[in-house]
Amino acid sequence: MQKPAETQYPIHDLIRDRWSPLAFDSKPVEPEKLGSLLEAARWAASSYNEQPWAFVVATKEDTDAFQALFNCLAEGNQPWTQDAPVLLLSVAKEQFSRNGKPNRHAAHDVGMANANLVLQAMSMGLYCHMMAGFEPQKARHTLGIPEGWDPLTMMAVGYLGDAKTLSEDLQKREGAPRSRKPLDEFIFTGKWGEAASFAT
Ligand SMILES: Cc1cc2nc3c(=O)[nH]c(=O)nc-3n(C[C@H](O)[C@H](O)[C@H](O)COP(=O)(O)O)c2cc1C
Repeated sequence: MQKPAETQYPIHDLIRDRWSPLAFDSKPVEPEKLGSLLEAARWAASSYNEQPWAFVVATKEDTDAFQALFNCLAEGNQPWTQDAPVLLLSVAKEQFSRNGKPNRHAAHDVGMANANLVLQAMSMGLYCHMMAGFEPQKARHTLGIPEGWDPLTMMAVGYLGDAKTLSEDLQKREGAPRSRKPLDEFIFTGKWGEAASFAT
């Protein structure tokens, strides 16, 4: 299934074609491809080059590690993630290593790393579905995440699966069109709320 973005201006194919599927094929992700995804995350830009990210990654073959991550997911995310071959959790370091001060951009930079990962995945025929629906405290406890590190986002990664394997409800979600606000609703110039002529 393809769900390309309907754009107001042309964009790169990888960005246009990325979407967050619910149906994943159980086919494992090749270790070298998984390595490339994490390498792409590694090379994200970050404030002061702090690289305030860590990832807890589990492949389906590593049953205990996979189950540990899976158990942290919200009930609503479990039915469709169970077939995904890879689960991961991105974690943000809350203070700068250089001076111990709060890093206001930690979540931004972990988002940058995740965006790199997701687009690298698309370039290799892999899809990602990010999730806020998990229990951070459970993740902290189960995975031994230290204080000062914030369990931020979970993600399912894998090849596209067959939507017919999903429940009726999930099939509806899978088939729903993707939508975005129009550019002029959030691109301003001069002053907040003033739409820019180049973004209409
Ligand atoms: C940080 C973040 C958290 C998300 N949490 C969930 C989630 O818990 N469950 C879910 O099904 N989708 C989740 N999503 C997926 C979004 O719903 C999805 O990206 C959005 O609807 C846009 O669809 P698209 O990615 O196909 O363009 C999340 C996405 C992001 C970036």
